Amino acid sequence: METKLQDGFEERLAAHAARVEDELRRLLDGRERSGEIARPERLLAAMRHGVLNGGKRLRPFLVIESAALFGRSCDDVLAAAAALECVHCYSLVHDDLPAMDDDDLRRGQPTVHKAYDEATAILAGDSLLTLAFDILATESSDVPRNAITPRQRIDLIKGLATASGIGGMAGGQALDLAAETAKPDEQGIITLQAMKTGALIRYACEAGAILGGATFAERERLAEFGSAIGLAFQLADDLLDLTADTSSMGKATGKDAAAGKATLPSLHGTDWTRKQLRGLVGQAHELLEPFGAKAATLRQAATFIAERKS
Ligand code: IPE
Ligand code: IPE
Ligand code: MG
Ligand code: MG
Ligand code: MG
Repeated sequence: METKLQDGFEERLAAHAARVEDELRRLLDGRERSGEIARPERLLAAMRHGVLNGGKRLRPFLVIESAALFGRSCDDVLAAAAALECVHCYSLVHDDLPAMDDDDLRRGQPTVHKAYDEATAILAGDSLLTLAFDILATESSDVPRNAITPRQRIDLIKGLATASGIGGMAGGQALDLAAETAKPDEQGIITLQAMKTGALIRYACEAGAILGGATFAERERLAEFGSAIGLAFQLADDLLDLTADTSSMGKATGKDAAAGKATLPSLHGTDWTRKQLRGLVGQAHELLEPFGAKAATLRQAATFIAERKS
């Protein structure tokens, strides 16, 4: 298994993040989108706080790189990538609320409910979730007409809805909160991780395949790749919660143990978790084999996710 990150990967991540951030800044400026009546200033400021505050922009990166596998340009998929990041940021704003993880720090800054107030944080999350679907349903003037077919657009919308809702992220968050008292077994933890974190990462890769006009089999393969790295992503997050410090993470650590939350590292220890992470990266790399050298960046992304330090 390849374990070293090649030169240039982190620069590529940063370059895509900069493009995505420009797009997000544009989507969250003061101008109303078509059909909107007004953009209340304080709510918009809270949304901007929850989105334009750093972040690795990993999910948009996966959309862009999965689409690139099929020759699709970053320009063509930027809106879909930004839409997914809006859902991710909404999930973080709500995850940090007192009724959920009750966190004060996110991406090195006060969480949205700390910087504003709880009601505003709830509404900022709601507005980011719905903005994502507005973006996906809108034909952008920056993308050549018909570059995205109506079928592709519907698949993108349906995929994001399913990945975000009761059978995906939101359902996983419910299971995660219940895990503070119900103590799920290993399979239960894997299911909750696949939902709360895996579903959006799986969607990121599948969305790239949809936009790239992949065959059904290729799309399934990319989605499976997304599931493997999604699981690895949350395993790494749980490991870092145990082993890393607040300053490198930009968020409080040691919270899972304090809340008595069942995680795989708490169940099996850190050595087991690192071995599991290596296994998942190997699985992810195998899934990319049919794509050959074109998939070099996605291979690196799998390695990065498992080895990340923040
Ligand atoms: C944090 O996600 C929440 C989890 C799903 C574990 P990220 O680690 O991708 O957070 P940002 O976007 O980089 O801040
Ligand atoms: C959050 O998981 C997952 C979602 C936001 C959907 P965590 O609660 O572990 O994420 P952090 O550690 O607060 O970033
Ligand atoms: Mg949580
Ligand atoms: Mg949390
Ligand atoms: Mg965590």
